[in-house]
Amino acid sequence: LDSVAFYGEHQAGIATPAQDRLHFAAFDVITTKRSELDALLQEWTAAAARMTQGQEAGTFGAVGGVPEAPPDDTGEALGLPASGLTLTIGFGASLFDGRFGLAGRKPAALRDLPRFPGDALLPELSGGDLCVQACANDPQVAVHAIRNLARIGFGRVSARYSQLGFGRTSSTSRAQATPRNLMGFKDGTANLKLEDTAMLRDHLWVAEKDGPAWMRGGTYLVTRKIRMHIETWDRTSLAEQEAIFGRDKGEGAPLGLAKEFDEPDFAKKGPDGAPLIGEVAHVRLAHPSSNGGARLLRRGYNYVDGSDGLGRLDAGLFFMSYQRDPHRQFVPVQRALAKNDVLNEYIKHISSGLFAIPPGVRDAGDYWGRALF
Ligand code: HEM
Repeated sequence: LDSVAFYGEHQAGIATPAQDRLHFAAFDVITTKRSELDALLQEWTAAAARMTQGQEAGTFGAVGGVPEAPPDDTGEALGLPASGLTLTIGFGASLFDGRFGLAGRKPAALRDLPRFPGDALLPELSGGDLCVQACANDPQVAVHAIRNLARIGFGRVSARYSQLGFGRTSSTSRAQATPRNLMGFKDGTANLKLEDTAMLRDHLWVAEKDGPAWMRGGTYLVTRKIRMHIETWDRTSLAEQEAIFGRDKGEGAPLGLAKEFDEPDFAKKGPDGAPLIGEVAHVRLAHPSSNGGARLLRRGYNYVDGSDGLGRLDAGLFFMSYQRDPHRQFVPVQRALAKNDVLNEYIKHISSGLFAIPPGVRDAGDYWGRALF
């Protein structure tokens, strides 16, 4: 898979088979002029259409312009293929705060997430007026894409925070092998997959009746940067680790069953009469049957931001989930996890984001968020 189509009904980078690398960036809009924001989105769309097809960000490129001007591409991706690059844009609630006359267009589903027990959110790593998710199979390609969008946005947006990720922690296609997270477990086994067309319609894409009209064919993204207490985890017994998730570490099978894709049997009991998958095991708490049928398309990445100066790895999961309505899908699942999951002893949520992901760009005459303006 080299280049992924940019134009389509939905934005790429959601039901696209998850690439190996992430560069996620949240931006604040610093111009107060709606026309400048609108122009930026058009320029970003044109650059994204080019970069996702393996071309340079601007038409002159890194070395083809006049020597007196800064190049319209920064150059570090010269000679590299498209590497499956997708660029996916999102709009945060703060974009609809009235500065741009968009207050009346804010989707109800974009209202703030509630505070969850244990949240230790850092405001400077949370929120954002705009986000761009760059995914690619080459980290240099993902970094190049965000860097060039930031360069184009100079004076109109400023980068609020960004996150590099590697080793996709979810498979979003049945053709992909399930990768592992930094706790060493297969992650993404029971995920919404692009082959599940009917389920994607029901659980992923915003329908006409959900409103507002400009969001039809879009979806919502929740991001949570979840730091792992890696050293504590590494001193935990294998049996305890497996009990926490309710799956075995080698195969990834639900406890009591043999194969990764066996359906968990939550009623099955061990010789001591206790359920093999405990009442507070992660997969039981997160399972649709415990959450009124709620499903997510998880598309997160491992991160390691070096070490923290205290001898510990600064590492964890940059969790991302896409869903049709975050308040009916992500929220109940995270409420159950925040309250009861034994995993909480080993993790800390340090950032949070919620973004409306508009539908795809139809063709070269269309642009990201056109229906908004
Ligand atoms: C399942 C790890 C946080 C939702 C799983 C599985 C693992 C895992 C190993 C089993 C394999 C699979 O089906 O993918 C983790 C880790 C987390 C984390 C290490 C934090 C660092 C979350 C959060 C949510 C979530 C914040 C959503 C609020 C789910 C769901 C499933 C799942 C929906 C599938 C349950 C099922 O249907 O069987 N997770 N997870 N996870 N997780 Fe997490």
